[in-house]
Amino acid sequence: MTTIPSSSFGCKIIYSTQSGTGQEVAEKLSRDLLRNGIITKVDDIENYDYKKLLPFENIILFVVSTQGHGDVPDSMRLFWNFLLIRSHPSNALGGLRFAILGLGDSSYTTFNFASKKLNQRLLSLGAQQLIRRGDADDQHDLGIDYEVEKWTLELTTKLHQLYPLPLDFVPIDRNILQKSKYMVEFKTSDQEGQRMQFKPPQQYSIVQLKTNQRITCPYWNQDVRHLEFDIKDPNQNGRNLLKYSSGDVTYILPENPTKSVNEIIECLKFDPNTIITSIKPFNSELCTTPQINLPTTIGILFKHYFDIMGSPRRYFFELLQFFTSDPLEQERLQYFSSTEGQDDLRDYNQKEKRNYIDVLKDFQNISIPFEYIFDLIMPIKPRPFSISSSSTMHPNELHVSAGLNTYMAPTRRLLRMGLCSQWFQTLSTGALVPMYIKQSGATLPPSPNIPLVMVGPGTGCAIFRSFMQHREMIKKDGALGEAIFYYGCRHANSDYLYQQEFEHYEKSGTISQLSVAFSRDSDDNKKVYVQHLMRRDAQLIWNLLENGAWFYISGSSGRMPKDF
Ligand code: 2AM
Repeated sequence: MTTIPSSSFGCKIIYSTQSGTGQEVAEKLSRDLLRNGIITKVDDIENYDYKKLLPFENIILFVVSTQGHGDVPDSMRLFWNFLLIRSHPSNALGGLRFAILGLGDSSYTTFNFASKKLNQRLLSLGAQQLIRRGDADDQHDLGIDYEVEKWTLELTTKLHQLYPLPLDFVPIDRNILQKSKYMVEFKTSDQEGQRMQFKPPQQYSIVQLKTNQRITCPYWNQDVRHLEFDIKDPNQNGRNLLKYSSGDVTYILPENPTKSVNEIIECLKFDPNTIITSIKPFNSELCTTPQINLPTTIGILFKHYFDIMGSPRRYFFELLQFFTSDPLEQERLQYFSSTEGQDDLRDYNQKEKRNYIDVLKDFQNISIPFEYIFDLIMPIKPRPFSISSSSTMHPNELHVSAGLNTYMAPTRRLLRMGLCSQWFQTLSTGALVPMYIKQSGATLPPSPNIPLVMVGPGTGCAIFRSFMQHREMIKKDGALGEAIFYYGCRHANSDYLYQQEFEHYEKSGTISQLSVAFSRDSDDNKKVYVQHLMRRDAQLIWNLLENGAWFYISGSSGRMPKDF
């Protein structure tokens, strides 16, 4: 183990992430820079006080992923809106130097758009770019790590030119273990530990699941769930724990399956009832304290905090080599973390969808001090879902319509499920679910007279169910503007979600037209998609748009946007 080298300056790494990769990359970047004498502090953009940006910052390194089709991740929205303020003078960021590493997937036409937009905006506000923008690509043979490594090297060279290190400085070799991020204090007390309950961070409310119903046909291969949550505050009569409007998104924190939690705890030989009394960064200048309510237990953290079902990145293998007592395992781990081993690592890891537990089972001579688990396994990220109910119709409820997500590990012929999907599949009524609400940017127009064009195939219909429920409730108060809804699914009798409800809205005048595209029901095998029906109705849509209609589209971020 080694101590942090001295450095003549420090800089900030700010990450913005949707799925958690951004955080992992930012932390790895921080460690690599530290080995080279450059001290950084890593922060989530969500927690970053952007008002500091103008007068105080010197160097910021951004790690930015792109969401959906060119959008900045949700966590970056406030920061981005702040940068966009028109009244900023053109040299507002004259004192700032920056570098940006974008994380994305080049199969999208909007590859790394968020980082490109950020780069342009910072330049236009007078900030100076330190090195070229990094464009890490998940489609690259070696995954995003390839560009991350190259870019880190270029950045290190640049920073060393600007801030030369003392002549006697020796970079820390990758073969030497760095200190863990956090210091952890424990107390062993079996009974007290057993009784402890998980308390999520304060932005979450804990609501109760009322209904969990499959809404695709039982024989159909896709399992879509309709979930209803009771949002009443059990302690305060008539008050709700959460407030939401149509268009909002709920962020749900899933938990790991108990079987997997037991497996990993057994692999790592921890006592789940050990109580954790304190978790502090070794150096609060370098990283922030994790959002964990203390005291808690090791078992609770493996169930609710560490993303043990997630896919480890290269850095995990790099760090794991320090914790095995078997030279052969160490050699294999070193190979996986070397440049030559990248193809094999990709086959072993990403292609075969191995999660942390699978890997730890493969390397049986591993023994990890608990505090290093924070360096090795990322926290579980809450999953966003469009709310599919309206609080006007269901004042004490919140509904979610979730497609359960399965994928294959090809060679191992294993069918796997996403963490949240797995959880939803077995979640029974009465279960307690942590969630919080955020605005999505999509809202109903200010007046109900404004016409709507809504396009939402598959679970993309969720937000429009909320819109329609709201309209259904307010239509008695006055005339509604025209509203047309395009829905799409494969077959009329397998995956038509909320059929009766949507048909009722058309009959009751809540919407003026419901058009459904069945992609696999036609006799001539020709697919009918929502866009074909829209083409049919081109004149109608045009007229509505001319009358000031608001146009919404919601659905799969795969091929749909390109096809439109
Ligand atoms: P498919 O799966 O038969 O191709 C909900 O998933 C519906 O959206 C399905 O009927 C699906 O059709 C359809 N869909 C798939 N790709 C689409 C695209 N690019 N544009 C519009 N609809 C699409």
